Amino acid sequence: MRLLPPTPEAIAVAAEAIRAGRLVAMPTETVYGLAADATNAIAVARIYETKGRPRFNPLIVHLSTLEEARRLVEVSPPADLLASAFWPGPLTLVLRAKRANGIADLVTAGLDTLAIRLPAHPVARALLEASGRPLAAPSANRSGRVSPTTAAHVAAEFEGSDVTILDGGPAEHGLESTILDASSDGLVLLRPGSISIERIEGLTGLRIERLAIDPSRPTAPGQLVSHYAPHAGVRLNATSVRAGEALLAFGPVPLQTDGPVINLSERGDLTEAATRLFASLRELDASGAAAIAVMPIPFGGLGEAINDRLARAAAPRA
Ligand code: TXA
Ligand code: MG
Repeated sequence: MRLLPPTPEAIAVAAEAIRAGRLVAMPTETVYGLAADATNAIAVARIYETKGRPRFNPLIVHLSTLEEARRLVEVSPPADLLASAFWPGPLTLVLRAKRANGIADLVTAGLDTLAIRLPAHPVARALLEASGRPLAAPSANRSGRVSPTTAAHVAAEFEGSDVTILDGGPAEHGLESTILDASSDGLVLLRPGSISIERIEGLTGLRIERLAIDPSRPTAPGQLVSHYAPHAGVRLNATSVRAGEALLAFGPVPLQTDGPVINLSERGDLTEAATRLFASLRELDASGAAAIAVMPIPFGGLGEAINDRLARAAAPRA
């Protein structure tokens, strides 16, 4: 494991590691990603190995331009509209893959669709350009654990592994991208994320379907019941704090407690809360509390994605 500042020299070193089939943890505007050359099957296998990720969970391919996306997938008209509204940025589109597009089969786990995202973070973009490769990148955490929003979080996950980490500062959004399936007629929400559905519908006039998700048949690991789990237990919708619990508060009137407390947003702002969610779970976990009591978070806007992550963090562990 080596941690590098995001200088041009370090980006050149990281790009060389990508071309050599090794892993680079890169900052993105959502969370840090564990990137490998998506055209190199051995490099992609290293992602699964290093994360301990179940093989059936496909990966997002990160690109720097829409032209590249058109070479790999069929960009449908609604996808085009979404791309012009939100790319580069925290939106992932699942699209029909073109044949023989050069992407390693392991990336899609055998599906005939491919998830694509053009990240906005300048360091991710610099790595894409310097390596000249499409980058397969899941969140840079061990499978099932809390997603990393700083380089230090990534370093804590992969101590002792052969991973080069580019430090691009704390992630701007702090929650993963919103994933839409645009591979057939209609748009379907696969994972709520950094851009709310209201915003997508409002800006594009498109309608997005929310499917009832069957957690026993996940098409995305974000749909596994237990995910994003800290070591401590998580108790939702707390109205009081029990002995030995840490408190994850929200809003101007936190619950009374003598234990450790982090307030996601004293102003009750969901965007601020989203930014701080994963880092706060990690920090309360590190306090050694047996459980984390979480105050209720409203469901509107980014509240949907925050509640989604918290429900999975609280779910019974496999
Ligand atoms: O913000 C993000 O999306 C971050 C950064 C690093 O880009 N990445 C991320 O990757 O969250 P990961 O692997 O933790 O989650 C990717 C999700 C998974 O739930 C996966 O199942 C889904 O995307 N996915 C990937 N390809 C898919 C496909 N072809 N069809 C359906 N779901 C797909
Ligand atoms: Mg993840």
